[in-house]
Amino acid sequence: MDSLGASRILGIVGAGKLGTAIARAALEVGYDVAIAGSGEAERIALIVDVLAPGARVMTSAEVVAHADIIVLAVPAHRFRELPRDLFSGKIVVDAMNYWEPIDGFNEELAHAPRGTSALVQEWFATARVVKAFNQLGYHEIDEMRRPSGDSGRIAIAVAGDDEMAVAVVSRLVDELGFDAIRVGSLKDGVALQPDGFAFGVALTAPELAGLLWPEQKRA
Ligand SMILES: NC(=O)c1ccc[n+]([C@@H]2O[C@H](COP(=O)([O-])OP(=O)(O)OC[C@H]3O[C@@H](n4cnc5c(N)ncnc54)[C@H](OP(=O)(O)O)[C@@H]3O)[C@@H](O)[C@H]2O)c1
Repeated sequence: MDSLGASRILGIVGAGKLGTAIARAALEVGYDVAIAGSGEAERIALIVDVLAPGARVMTSAEVVAHADIIVLAVPAHRFRELPRDLFSGKIVVDAMNYWEPIDGFNEELAHAPRGTSALVQEWFATARVVKAFNQLGYHEIDEMRRPSGDSGRIAIAVAGDDEMAVAVVSRLVDELGFDAIRVGSLKDGVALQPDGFAFGVALTAPELAGLLWPEQKRA
């Protein structure tokens, strides 16, 4: 446990491109990583052994039992397959994006006025949802992570309503090789979504802050 009361155990639900990239980053800095796909653990054992060697394969329920902080990296149209109380009391890092070519057209996800993470928080009402890891591609998680203080280090924005959960996720972002920038509340996380102005940008922390708060940059 660290000063925020967080352990160095990371759970990941979704063993695809993003989930395994985050697993690699976490394993590299010594996290105990547990990861799940949509079915039995054995189904993903080989792929995880190749893409994130050292991660433990489990079912989603086992991942949640094992970890207090869990990255949710499943296709956005599928998160409601998971039980509403699955993440009770846990910190859920919503890394999902609604992307019509992958998710198909979904009226609710396409026109979520408070952002898709608000829908995730509504579904998992007893979880502490924080939005992060949405704005970059998985290959950037692989290629652009740098130690703290490196001049080329880029930033990842973090949005959430639960201050302590945001602090824990920011610490995770930092440990995984990126400066963490707090964007604001969960609904402010719309900036990180595919139609948001901070989506797809690989910028340093001052550059990202300038994009998020341009008036402060001018001041
Ligand atoms: N790829 C990126 O660069 C990137 C970047 C930022 C954000 N994202 C977002 O991250 C999410 C995942 O993207 P991806 O590219 O990693 O997708 P992906 O490669 O298609 O992988 C999706 C993973 O989710 C699992 N899954 C699906 N339904 C599940 C369920 N109900 N319970 C547990 N696991 C489930 C799949 O398992 P099965 O194969 O067993 O179904 C698969 O392992 C998406 O929302 C995407 O928009 C992706």
